[in-house]
Amino acid sequence: MAPTTAGDLLLEMEGITKRFPGVVANEAVDFDVRRGEVHTLLGENGAGKSTLMKILYGLYHADEGEVRLSGKPVTINSPSDAIDRGIGMIHQHFMLVPTLTVAENVALGLPPIRRIRQDLGPVRERISELSDAYGLQVDPDAYIWQLAVGERQRVEIMKAIYRDVSLLILDEPTSVLTPAEVDDLFVTLRQMTDGGRGLVFISHKLHEVMALSDRITVLRGGRVTGRTMPSETSREQLAHMMVGREVQLAPTRLESKAAEARLKVKDLNVLGDRGTPAVTDFDLEVRSGEVVGIAGVSGNGQRELAEALAGLRPVVSGEVVMNGVETTDRTPKEIRRLGVSYIPEERMRDGAIGEFSVAENLILTDHDRPPISRRGLLDFKQIEDGCSDLVRRFTVKTPTLDTPTANLSGGNIQKLVIARELSGEPELLIASQPTRGVDIGAAEYIHTVLMDQRAGGTAILLISEDLDEVIGLSDRIAVMFEGRIMGTLDQEEATVQRLGLLMAGVSE
Ligand SMILES: Nc1ncnc2c1ncn2[C@@H]1O[C@H](COP(=O)(O)OP(=O)(O)OP(=O)(O)O)[C@@H](O)[C@H]1O
Ligand SMILES: [Mg+2]
Repeated sequence: MAPTTAGDLLLEMEGITKRFPGVVANEAVDFDVRRGEVHTLLGENGAGKSTLMKILYGLYHADEGEVRLSGKPVTINSPSDAIDRGIGMIHQHFMLVPTLTVAENVALGLPPIRRIRQDLGPVRERISELSDAYGLQVDPDAYIWQLAVGERQRVEIMKAIYRDVSLLILDEPTSVLTPAEVDDLFVTLRQMTDGGRGLVFISHKLHEVMALSDRITVLRGGRVTGRTMPSETSREQLAHMMVGREVQLAPTRLESKAAEARLKVKDLNVLGDRGTPAVTDFDLEVRSGEVVGIAGVSGNGQRELAEALAGLRPVVSGEVVMNGVETTDRTPKEIRRLGVSYIPEERMRDGAIGEFSVAENLILTDHDRPPISRRGLLDFKQIEDGCSDLVRRFTVKTPTLDTPTANLSGGNIQKLVIARELSGEPELLIASQPTRGVDIGAAEYIHTVLMDQRAGGTAILLISEDLDEVIGLSDRIAVMFEGRIMGTLDQEEATVQRLGLLMAGVSE
């Protein structure tokens, strides 16, 4: 670890306060980063992590406080100011231009003077060099829209390395990565700190925090509530520091009796965005009262499968029967009417409307039927009571029900969509990555709700890359590889090792 002399301080933030209408997002926060270290910011959804980093990156202006870089007070008014001072930020939601190539996206980050009529040749060459040096596999000529999330992530990091940042902020960089991709990322990040850079890391995954951090600062309600380091703490203690109570890190799964099939999929074929097969000759059955997990490395057809089942993606051939009704030609709305709920993986894009209020998003899919609407009239009392209850149970942190959803923190928008989809009593639930991006307290609650619904007879298809989650919740686990099922394991026989082999395409 880096020595602790003041001269090694790359960044000091002192007494940072930031208020939004109805919320104090940061209150008198002190935070610093030394050369060569990873300093983790930990906290519940809405604790103020992204806000603090957006202040540093010039996206927000602090109401109070001082920022110093290498000991000198600075004012950072915009991201281009931040970039000029050697600060890079990888956001919670990617900021790449999908219709441009990797090289073009990297060049976009460069100062305009250099960009004018820039020949991309040298950019592509440098990307290849850095690719090799940092073990970051990216194809400079690929279009962003063609890339899987893990690859997009590498492009974001490439952009930062290309600009030669001295301080890199990573806001939940691993929430969309697979375990193997996370390992690769950590190797790259360590290479960056070995070169004397400083990193700020934000993640809700405590094992990652324990593995990567040199120091950890915990935020709660906008204030620093703890400082520690991995050698002095444990996952359980970190959870306690964040939430202020004991958190159960593994879900409890009771005996449940599976009954009649609620979802039957036979010989399903679906195409991906690029028109190539994404799901191939797929067979699956999910019964009332059981959870069937789909494990697999992202990009192996899970997203396309979920979208096809929800009516959002055309089915090329095959049969899907939900509650006894053939649904391959049905619209998403018709499928909902059959008692199907759907938690999409891309909740910002497919699940919520940013300009709508919290309450509007919570009733988005139910606004035209009882109890919310009767004879064309909305029942506002019902809406308010129902929404308040959901916000409380799922700990959605929002000043009011009328707050625009776009003002919520990333994890709280996730919770909003999940709360809506879990609020009814669906006959069939398709849940894609249901705890991605939410804090551990909320993850614990979501697991409890899923287990309650299973006990109440809901059939649940759980698509998740979090192997602990899949093993903890599922009765059976099917592993998807290149659009097909590589193998299916019963809960009792499923281990991370066995699933990992199937995920890599090795059949038993
Ligand atoms: N532009 C904004 N307008 C109004 N309120 C905001 C805005 N940005 C953030 N907030 C509020 O500030 C608080 C802190 O949000 P922030 O995004 O910093 O949380 P976070 O710790 O990053 O959470 P998460 O883990 O969910 O990403 C939240 O209550 C959020 O609703
Ligand atoms: Mg955030």
